[in-house]
Amino acid sequence: MSGELRLTVLGAGYLGITHAAGMASLGFDVLGVDTDAARVDQLNAGHLPIYEPGLEELLRAGLGAGRVRFTTSYPEAAAFGDVHFICTGTPQQLGGNRADLSQVHACVAALAPLLDRPCLVVGKSTVPVGTARRLAAELSQACPGAELAWNPEFLREGNAVADTLAPDRIVVGVTSGRAEQVLRQLYARPLAGGAAFIATSLETAELAKAAANAFLATKISFINAMAEICETAGGDVRDLAQILGADPRIGPAFLRAGLGYGGGCLPKDIRAFVARAEQLGAGASLAFLREVDAINLRRRARTADLTLELAGGNLTGVPVCVLGAAFKPGSDDVRDSPALDVAQILTGMGARVTVYDPAALDNARRARPELSYAPTLAAAAQGAHVVLLLTEWPEFTALTPDRLGGIVARRNMIDARNALDPVPWREAGWEYRALGVAEDTAARARLDASP
Ligand code: UGA
Repeated sequence: MSGELRLTVLGAGYLGITHAAGMASLGFDVLGVDTDAARVDQLNAGHLPIYEPGLEELLRAGLGAGRVRFTTSYPEAAAFGDVHFICTGTPQQLGGNRADLSQVHACVAALAPLLDRPCLVVGKSTVPVGTARRLAAELSQACPGAELAWNPEFLREGNAVADTLAPDRIVVGVTSGRAEQVLRQLYARPLAGGAAFIATSLETAELAKAAANAFLATKISFINAMAEICETAGGDVRDLAQILGADPRIGPAFLRAGLGYGGGCLPKDIRAFVARAEQLGAGASLAFLREVDAINLRRRARTADLTLELAGGNLTGVPVCVLGAAFKPGSDDVRDSPALDVAQILTGMGARVTVYDPAALDNARRARPELSYAPTLAAAAQGAHVVLLLTEWPEFTALTPDRLGGIVARRNMIDARNALDPVPWREAGWEYRALGVAEDTAARARLDASP
């Protein structure tokens, strides 16, 4: 395996599309493979099935240069590739906490029997520790010249292009110097740009991804636990986060208190990590991640309780405007969306909820058809008694109290992402409440009554 390496990318989901377009832009010939023929046609025509800033341009540049195309054919992929990247999804199992590896297994089962020359198969999907070692055995049995490596992906939705072209680190789990060399060759440009390169075992590479997401989730839940304490004792979690973040050993990233984390990665990855540790008899080591999950979910219930409070103790028939459906701004992803969960809880409490989101309405309608949606912010806010800011899109953080005040029926704002400046809202007569900021009178009473 030398000279110009040709790559295949197996799975045209979020990760696969980004990796295929990214590797094409790094100068490699790439063949993307997916079993969904409609998706393959769509991608070959230069259209993205997902929302990701800058990715469609990158894809079109690759298609235009003849560097990337997509197919449904595994025989074509086997004949084409020197390096095959596994980029299939590993969602949470239905009715359980473990990762569902069926797509990873299906893609290896489809590829392995077709391999008839030396090649490197590189897993990028997020998998439980131990998966790579088993897949390596399966592969080498099918084709003695096929070797497996693991190269976890750390890209963030909304930032995927930059994270792919200029990652901060490249982690490779390898079992030979040859595999490491091939991966160094593939990532020569980001490495020249300063990315750290860490070669390690298959197991450590698998753990690197699970541990990174567990740490990020823990940091968010830590500040949200502090938010709960602030709400009880009379503090302001925004000031607290600023103070903590100014310590370089802690750092300010991932200390934004609010409605907590969601999406297709953090929630399911920490649950799968706990489930895997338990299978291995090491459940105690990760027991704290259950609490991280619980803190995260409590923020959703707390937001609903705050809405009930602002509505005067009864939500039956109360018009409520929910701003945000995506799990975070810059994405149309509604998987495990905190915003949609809150909308659902409020609906269950009897409120007449209308949801608006600048990018995720179609996905939200598909995922939760029972909720009501509006095509514009103004239509969603019309006549509302309470407005909830649940995803901090720029369109929402740029709102002015007077503009919104002219549309709603009552000036009640719940800023569940700590994204607005409370002063102008209060000055304009809004009852403004944020997560992690105490209602002073109640907190003082609690402090006074405590021993
Ligand atoms: C996350 C990781 O950040 C990536 O490194 C990883 O590659 C990816 O998962 C994955 O496993 O594929 P992503 O899911 O795109 O990326 O989203 P993040 O930017 O990490 O945000 C996750 C959630 O945390 C969002 O709901 C966001 O609103 C929330 N968040 C983030 C907070 O509530 N507070 C913060 O301070 C930061």
